[in-house]
Amino acid sequence: MEITKRELGKTNRQNVVKCKNPMESQETYTGWSKKYDEELDALNYQSPQYAAKMFGKNSHGVKAVLDIGTGTGKAAELIRKKYGYEGVFDLLDANLGMLVQADKKGLNIRNIIRHWVDQRGELPVKDESYDVITCTGSFGPNHISVTALPGMVKSLKHGGLFIMTAGIPGNDSYHLEFHRFLQNMIDAKEVELVEKEEYQNFPNALDEVVNVVLVLKRS
Ligand SMILES: C[S@@+](CC[C@H](N)C(=O)[O-])C[C@H]1O[C@@H](n2cnc3c(N)ncnc32)[C@H](O)[C@@H]1O
Repeated sequence: MEITKRELGKTNRQNVVKCKNPMESQETYTGWSKKYDEELDALNYQSPQYAAKMFGKNSHGVKAVLDIGTGTGKAAELIRKKYGYEGVFDLLDANLGMLVQADKKGLNIRNIIRHWVDQRGELPVKDESYDVITCTGSFGPNHISVTALPGMVKSLKHGGLFIMTAGIPGNDSYHLEFHRFLQNMIDAKEVELVEKEEYQNFPNALDEVVNVVLVLKRS
């Protein structure tokens, strides 16, 4: 049974990335949303764990958090339940099916926002309104564009943290470009790299997927 869930999880995670276009990726998420948690739990999916751990280390004085590409709210759930964050929490995702699953978790969320983050990354929230933005598993082909990063950062307060997970540059051309783009933002002093850590994203899968969690501070 666990093996079947792992295989399904592996197929679905490949289907959302290696598809023709973002619309096809979104259709897969809609069909996957009800089984997403159990299949990724079977693979021991790590990105939300690492992002939440970084949140726990940096949560002093945090009053408002936005989780972008929240999906079923895995990172939000850990931040609330494991790390005890009680402040304002907003969730944003393009996919209604995934957001419905997040809503069912009863995480005392202020706003659940359905929004597709486009190439400019402008968000339907006030600029400089969050202490922390988290984003796990949502940077990749057919997901959030690399060029969206500066627009997303605008909704962080100056000195606020962007905690994100992504693949490493060797994974594919998207991630090579992602890390180049981020380095340019660091060089331009738009953000400062506070911490990063690599990890195995799916320890229960046979293929090795190395990811990295990054903590960036808005200047
Ligand atoms: C792999 S899931 C990650 C969900 C959750 N953060 C987690 O770690 O379990 C990626 C999520 O990002 C959302 N997503 C992908 N591209 C997006 C975009 N451009 N704008 C908003 N949401 C997007 C998808 O709908 C999906 O729910």
